[in-house]
Amino acid sequence: MVSNAEQKQVATAAYGEGDASYRAAGGYEGLRQLCERFYFYMDTLPEAAGIRAMHKADLEDSTDRLTSFLSGWLGGPRLYREKYGQIIIPQAHRHLEIGTAERDAWLLCMRRALDDQPVAEDFKEYLMQQLYRPAEFSRNRD
Ligand code: HEM
Repeated sequence: MVSNAEQKQVATAAYGEGDASYRAAGGYEGLRQLCERFYFYMDTLPEAAGIRAMHKADLEDSTDRLTSFLSGWLGGPRLYREKYGQIIIPQAHRHLEIGTAERDAWLLCMRRALDDQPVAEDFKEYLMQQLYRPAEFSRNRD
């Protein structure tokens, strides 16, 4: 008999293999919805006002760039590379002032967006854990 905790561990490990994460996210459509929701929260949550102000007024380009990036990052088609070229996340954010408050606001928008998606609960946890890393690496001040 496998305990719940063990089952969760097995499921979580599998998300790192091949395109398992991309599929768990609902493929391109799922990621597009996630990113639309992410920017909706960035646009409306008071906690995100500071990072919203770093972005352009029109969030369509940001939505496409983030969707494209996450597609490849989660093992699906490498859309960002195809459309925009190579990207290194911390370098792409070097010109921005990102401290813990900005990092946490970004992750909060993602948490809210993910909670609106019809995806597996253990995938939500996995994705938030995975996203913490690039968010933390993008931080360039306290
Ligand atoms: C830590 C908090 C973060 C903040 C405050 C932030 C903010 C921003 C801003 C303001 C831009 C637009 C830059 C510009 O137009 O000059 C941007 C671009 C982008 N961000 Fe973030 N970001 C954060 C974390 C992340 C993370 C964790 C990822 C990926 C998992 C990510 C992926 C991207 C991508 C793909 C772009 C487009 C870059 C480009 O094509 O030039 N960001 N970010």
